[in-house]
Amino acid sequence: MSDSQNGSRPAAASPSSGQIRAHVTGWGRYVPSRVLTNKDLERLVDTSDEWITTRTGIRERRVAAANETTASMAAVASLRAIRTAGLDPDDIDLILLGTLTPDYWMPSTAALVKEAIGNTRAAAMDVSAACSGFVYGFATAQAWIASGLAKHVLVIGAELLTRFLDYTDRSTCILFGDGAGAVVLSASDQPGGALGIELTTEPQGAYMIWLPAGGAKSPPSAETIARGEHYIRMEGKETYRFATKTMATTALESVRKSGLEPKDVALFIPHQANVRIIEAVAKGLNLPMDRMYTNVQKYGNTSAASVPIALAEAVNEGRLRVGDNVCIVAFGAGFTSGAVTIEWTADPARGIAGDAAIDPRDVHVRLPVDWDSVDPIPPALAELMARPSEINPPLDDVVPGEPEPASHPLAR
Ligand code: ACO
Repeated sequence: MSDSQNGSRPAAASPSSGQIRAHVTGWGRYVPSRVLTNKDLERLVDTSDEWITTRTGIRERRVAAANETTASMAAVASLRAIRTAGLDPDDIDLILLGTLTPDYWMPSTAALVKEAIGNTRAAAMDVSAACSGFVYGFATAQAWIASGLAKHVLVIGAELLTRFLDYTDRSTCILFGDGAGAVVLSASDQPGGALGIELTTEPQGAYMIWLPAGGAKSPPSAETIARGEHYIRMEGKETYRFATKTMATTALESVRKSGLEPKDVALFIPHQANVRIIEAVAKGLNLPMDRMYTNVQKYGNTSAASVPIALAEAVNEGRLRVGDNVCIVAFGAGFTSGAVTIEWTADPARGIAGDAAIDPRDVHVRLPVDWDSVDPIPPALAELMARPSEINPPLDDVVPGEPEPASHPLAR
């Protein structure tokens, strides 16, 4: 166990100390170009832009096109992170992918990503910790690096949640969106990188957010589908209560294990579920909201993808400088929660060039032979998205991964 996991901040390591540290060297993100606004959802369920905005902070979210998958989005974000790190895909020793929406039960989505990015060497596996999956993966990567098992680890959070939502349930279908984010962690004998880690799991909340059917307890059948048990279910109030309590305490524990106080952390990157939860975290840490990064208004809750997307955007927007401390913190089904405090050591300017270097249209996930999936878009969503809106072009005109038109508010 490293010092950082022991609870005290490791003394600044000199190059000769022999201690191996995990530094973030690359970061990247990918979100689909299709936008689903609150106004669009008003046409589907009994809701309003005003209700969604005031209760959650969400204004719009992204929806993957029919030929996009969790693996394809993850592969784009990963190649961007690898390019930002100045590495070749084959430099990666381990691929960890946090998701609750894998392409298949098996193989792992991480295995598909490994092939899509052109890596021949890495071990690859998925991490199942719901919205905390990326932070759990990050902590695992740190341990592999500190123990000398890996030199460069790719950690991904990727989700395609819009295919697992009940579009008659207004309490869940307004919350979630699609996307992917990734970082590269690299071994170094220099000070900085991942410091204190805190991970918790509280199984008494196991059925507060869950997807009842499809697993061994309730294999998929006509009956489970008729009962709508293939959709995400959530006890919103209980989840909200857990999240507001655990996010602040988990972050605080990670910061303390780093030998720091919250005021020493330049920016917190919280899981983007609900802006009111993020406000409660700021209050719990006794910090102003400008220390909390938020982009939930643009993407909704992208589960395991939310922290790496937010981290990549925060760095590219100039919110972090070399030497700053940043704390990533998430909560999710399980109930899980996790936080890692990091001393930022990478040149923030590298991210924008890394993003620009990878065109999503050049990234392909190999499809199975002799098998076609059915149309993966839920009919209610397909019908809604087929109607042209102010923001979206007609569905036929959409090229997956196409950059937003310059006129789109998010492109500015
Ligand atoms: N539009 C309009 N009204 C709605 C909507 C909607 N979309 N959804 C619910 N309502 C109604 C309810 O029916 C209820 O009406 P009633 O008073 O007549 O019964 C009223 O609004 C209040 O509902 P609440 O559930 O009390 O609303 P609340 O303020 O708790 O907000 C919310 C609901 C946004 C879901 C909140 O509880 C929340 O954010 N919870 C946490 C969710 C979360 O973070 N999930 C992440 C899961 S992480 C993972 O691992 C996937």
